[in-house]
Amino acid sequence: MEVLEAIKKRTSIRKFTDEDLPDDALDKILYAGTQAPNAFNREPWEFILIREGRVKDELVSMRQKVPPQKEALKTAPVVIVVCYNNELGNEALSSTYACVENMLLAATSLGLGAVTLTFHGGKIKDLLGLPEGFEIASVIPFGYPAEFPEKPIRKPVSEKLHVGKF
Ligand SMILES: Cc1cc2nc3c(=O)[nH]c(=O)nc-3n(C[C@H](O)[C@H](O)[C@H](O)COP(=O)(O)O)c2cc1C
Repeated sequence: MEVLEAIKKRTSIRKFTDEDLPDDALDKILYAGTQAPNAFNREPWEFILIREGRVKDELVSMRQKVPPQKEALKTAPVVIVVCYNNELGNEALSSTYACVENMLLAATSLGLGAVTLTFHGGKIKDLLGLPEGFEIASVIPFGYPAEFPEKPIRKPVSEKLHVGKF
């Protein structure tokens, strides 16, 4: 799939079929993440791969009260937690989100679905054993879509574009 087509097509998917993710798709998604632009080429990202099991069940229970997110975590065959070394502060997070977007676009281009979820606080860091100085950017369930939502409408560029001055 062409890049602009994937950008247009990508939308957040929060429900997946029970079909597993092929290993080569997983490899391509992770590779796409690592090719993102990043400040000083410090590659601040680290990936934690989670499949069925206790850790995934814990993530699901953390989103017990948010049904669409719970559904996404529960039904996804694979969850990737993207964390980052925070020594560069804002630039580390910006870099890591470029990585996340590459992963989401790669998933779309492979016919897969995903959604980037936000988790704050120490509970998830403890669960995943994050070392000191690392933060979580995104928790991303991946799988084959079991829903095909309309992409939320964006404002036209003309409402967002300022030429020369805000
Ligand atoms: C930084 C960031 C954090 C997000 N956190 C969540 C989240 O915690 N839960 C969720 O369901 N979606 C989350 N999303 C997905 C947005 O809700 C979604 O991208 C937005 O509604 C636009 O819809 P689309 O992705 O289908 O275009 C997040 C997206 C971004 C970029």
